[in-house]
Amino acid sequence: MIPQPKQNVQEISPYVPGKPIEEVRRELGLKGEILKLASNENPLGPSPLALAALRQGLTGVHLYPDDSCYYLGRRLAGHLGVAEDQLIFGNGAVEVIDFVMKSYVSPGDHVVLADQSFIMYAIAAKVAGARATVVPLRDHTHDLDAMARAVDARTKVVFVVNPNNPTGTAFGQRQASAFLRKVPRSCLVVFDEAYYEYVDDPAFPDSIGLLAEHPNLIVLRTFSKIYGLAGLRVGYGIGHPDLIAAIRKVRLPFNVGLLSQLACRAAIGDRRHVARSRRVNAAGKKYLYARFQALGVPAVPSQGNFILIDTGRDSQPVFLAMQQLGVIVRPVKNYGMPTQLRVTVGTPPQNRRLVAALKKALAGRSR
Ligand SMILES: Cc1ncc(COP(=O)(O)O)c(C=O)c1O
Repeated sequence: MIPQPKQNVQEISPYVPGKPIEEVRRELGLKGEILKLASNENPLGPSPLALAALRQGLTGVHLYPDDSCYYLGRRLAGHLGVAEDQLIFGNGAVEVIDFVMKSYVSPGDHVVLADQSFIMYAIAAKVAGARATVVPLRDHTHDLDAMARAVDARTKVVFVVNPNNPTGTAFGQRQASAFLRKVPRSCLVVFDEAYYEYVDDPAFPDSIGLLAEHPNLIVLRTFSKIYGLAGLRVGYGIGHPDLIAAIRKVRLPFNVGLLSQLACRAAIGDRRHVARSRRVNAAGKKYLYARFQALGVPAVPSQGNFILIDTGRDSQPVFLAMQQLGVIVRPVKNYGMPTQLRVTVGTPPQNRRLVAALKKALAGRSR
């Protein structure tokens, strides 16, 4: 008999990330270039300014990083138009989710989250031993009315992902405001906007603007997506200074690495890279919608850098065949979507390869 973990830990199904390229190469013995369109990374790579900052910073890595992320915080605060004490940095936005849980949710507390939404919220709730109400999506989108109704006087946090992952759908300012007005001030509201910089819907909420009126709101964003720095693991939360001060208490020292801080600072100033990434993504989505339609594969219009498609059959064999063809996409069976796949939008040649692989896989071919 070995020690048994806590009951809530026993119940956790671990997060399954997109398959790394080298793992697929090893497992399948594939030669040639493998294309990963499974984790919504930036297909253009990192910001060149961030790369230059990394090179410069290399000789300093014998020193601990700045624990307060002072310069990064100052740069980002200026960029966002907020105060530095409204920011908390994490080892990716996922770490900020963990901080929120640690500082606000005790075992048995109630949280509200959406079904078919970023699965880390359901996992984090389990880890915290929270009682979670999981609200189904409506038309692939958060059902904010139903989520507000699920909040009661004892609800500690509501998690809302906008644009939603894996569906790519987004709600607008009007819905955001109406929702926030319905949630009691005693309940924390998390707006996860990991894909914010890709959004082109002018109705998308000005969440930072909403902070003044709603001190119970925290907005999450990340350097993993449009800034192309997923490997450096930096995400952040923006909120009322008192709320941020509470969350900062549970942060471990030096949670954001020295090189990560330098690269993110530089990336914020790389407007060209961000603008180009947006353009390539918008053009890529347009191309892919048309190709998916031609293949008879329904696609959900996306505000992110990924698209949810419906293969109309068990998507696992399609995923495996595509993988055999050297294209890694993301099955979403664990989101209760057994026939769907989530694909990251790539560069034009990558998108062509994605479509060719999907076409072959749907025809039952893996060569
Ligand atoms: C909605 C959402 N939130 C957060 C994250 C995690 O971001 P990070 O890499 O900053 O931890 C992701 C990553 O896929 C995401 O899709």
